[in-house]
Amino acid sequence: MALNTAQSKEAGRVPLPINSRKDTWWIKPLLVFLGLSTFGIYATWRAFENRYYSWGPYLSPFYSPFLVIHIGHFAISPALLILPFPLIFRMTCYYYRGAYYRAFFWDPPACAVEEPAARKQYTGESRFPFTIQNLHRFAFYIAVIFIAILAADAIIAFDFNGHFGMGLGTLIMVVNVLLLSFYTFSCHSFRHLIGGALNCYSCSRSGKTRFRIWQRISLANERHMLFAWLSLFTVGFTDLYIRLVSAGIIHDVRFF
Ligand code: FES
Repeated sequence: MALNTAQSKEAGRVPLPINSRKDTWWIKPLLVFLGLSTFGIYATWRAFENRYYSWGPYLSPFYSPFLVIHIGHFAISPALLILPFPLIFRMTCYYYRGAYYRAFFWDPPACAVEEPAARKQYTGESRFPFTIQNLHRFAFYIAVIFIAILAADAIIAFDFNGHFGMGLGTLIMVVNVLLLSFYTFSCHSFRHLIGGALNCYSCSRSGKTRFRIWQRISLANERHMLFAWLSLFTVGFTDLYIRLVSAGIIHDVRFF
């Protein structure tokens, strides 16, 4: 893990000036910046659009659960009520934190690369507003509820007017909820929940079971970054597909 300027100096290592590294270290933060910015702009536009969110048995993940609240004649977009929860989950995610600190704040931009403007004092995440990041484990609990809701939506996507069927939209929704599940259950907080706060795995039967589950979660946890990006892509793509079908721009492909 990269140290910031103050930490590096403390450890006796001097980070390189920003333009000294000759390799393409900047590609990764640039891709993160572009990926998160694109998703953020798209999701915000879709949340305010408040239409084209469903077609047949399909419901966009941005609008699920479909909660409609009216203020007078004005209906608040369900996406505006829902999206803050997955947003908090992703923003407080241990992987994304490292990624967006580098891409957006250049804090530091990469390993062995000095921050553009050395900060006077490094406080890590020990001061407000960064202490909010500690809410991640609670955001995880809410994310699990969303997984259950999206899994129910994926099952409903097989119901075409009372007949069992499957379209491309069904497949996309199933893949989406699977990848979101991989992302959610490879979470560091979940890994700690299963395997942490335990002094001895072999001292009890439940300890052995927890150890086995923890081993599997650890395997998935190694690919947490991959699941983070794949699930971000599929959740956006699922919404886009349903929007295009709903708006009549494309037709759903029906397998049976
Ligand atoms: S650490 Fe990434 S979702 Fe929990």
